[in-house]
Amino acid sequence: MLYSDKVMDHFTNPRNVGEIPDANGVGMVGNAKCGDIMQMFLKIENDVIVDVKFKTFGCGAAIATSSMATELIKGVTVEEALKLTNAAVMEALDGLPPVKVHCSVLAEQAIRAALSDYYRRQGIDPVPIVGEIKEEEEHEMEE
Ligand code: FES
Repeated sequence: MLYSDKVMDHFTNPRNVGEIPDANGVGMVGNAKCGDIMQMFLKIENDVIVDVKFKTFGCGAAIATSSMATELIKGVTVEEALKLTNAAVMEALDGLPPVKVHCSVLAEQAIRAALSDYYRRQGIDPVPIVGEIKEEEEHEMEE
């Protein structure tokens, strides 16, 4: 079996799909390898992620990793969410085939882009906190 049961579960029944109309952190990133796109919506109150949703044009592995990643950051502080790595998401899913590892990066990058947006909206420079998000990976939001 190429994919673990957890990957199949999150792919066939993804959690937290959709948009949050009053999100206060929105990020969109593209995958340089395949051209797929991921959008992440965060609702943050008192530095806690109270709600999170995602939309993607990505493949099954991207859907599964985003679903798992949103589950892992829901209810945690912004600081904890920043520590989430794609390695941790893959571990939570019992692994991914090596050719699909780049897909899991999409979720991590989209979360970081959404957190950058959250800081920017407060007039805070996100780069020292979130780090650089590579130019070619960050897409302008169309309002
Ligand atoms: Fe594009 Fe997986 S192939 S995200």
